[in-house]
Amino acid sequence: MKLENIWQQFTQRQFDYLGNIIYRSKAKSICDIGCFAGSVGRAVWKAIKVSDKELYLLDNYAFLPEAFRQPFLKAVKKTVGDSDRIHTILESSHVYNWTQHDFVIFSQADIDHFRPDYEKLIQSNVKWVALDLSSTNCLQRFSIILDGIKDKKITPQYYVDGMIICGEPTPCTLATESGEFLGHKIRYVKKKKGAYNKAVEDIVKNL
Ligand SMILES: C[S@@+](CC[C@H](N)C(=O)[O-])C[C@H]1O[C@@H](n2cnc3c(N)ncnc32)[C@H](O)[C@@H]1O
Repeated sequence: MKLENIWQQFTQRQFDYLGNIIYRSKAKSICDIGCFAGSVGRAVWKAIKVSDKELYLLDNYAFLPEAFRQPFLKAVKKTVGDSDRIHTILESSHVYNWTQHDFVIFSQADIDHFRPDYEKLIQSNVKWVALDLSSTNCLQRFSIILDGIKDKKITPQYYVDGMIICGEPTPCTLATESGEFLGHKIRYVKKKKGAYNKAVEDIVKNL
């Protein structure tokens, strides 16, 4: 089983922006909430390994028998890196105090995992959060995030194909455009040419 191939939380383009924004930010510590097989952890670490930032990988792995949880987390960490600036926490995010970190990545398993963390987030002093709106298959999560933005409980700064970085203004050195999102001024990444454009090109080429 190759852990790297099991699951990708974001596309390569989203990972590139996430890494760039975290690296350029003033965040000293970053927490990947629900690190699963490590896709976010690997992308973030790749971007910050040359800095002095610390990365925290948090998961309770409740889906595994207890004896397998710690070894699995160790195996995931191994795929991220062997630095002592990468920390592993085998605990529920509903218990562990991740609000002590500057930058958190939200990719919770489901609404029961997400909702208590979100309530904690909006009461906290966490400086930045990456939220995932790219998957629209959970109506509750989708509407909680949009309501939070509309009601100014969270402040979006960047929109990258549905990944939203919220918090204080912070730089990004990759290409962005200026736009507006539910009453907030944001920077966004231009829509990528997709299957539709390719189909049009095919038709035109084969006329
Ligand atoms: C969709 S995966 C996250 C993907 C991951 N961030 C990545 O980098 O690819 C959701 C993870 O949340 C974890 N999880 C579920 N409930 C949790 C809880 N209460 N505390 C911590 N982790 C939890 C699951 O074990 C699973 O690994």
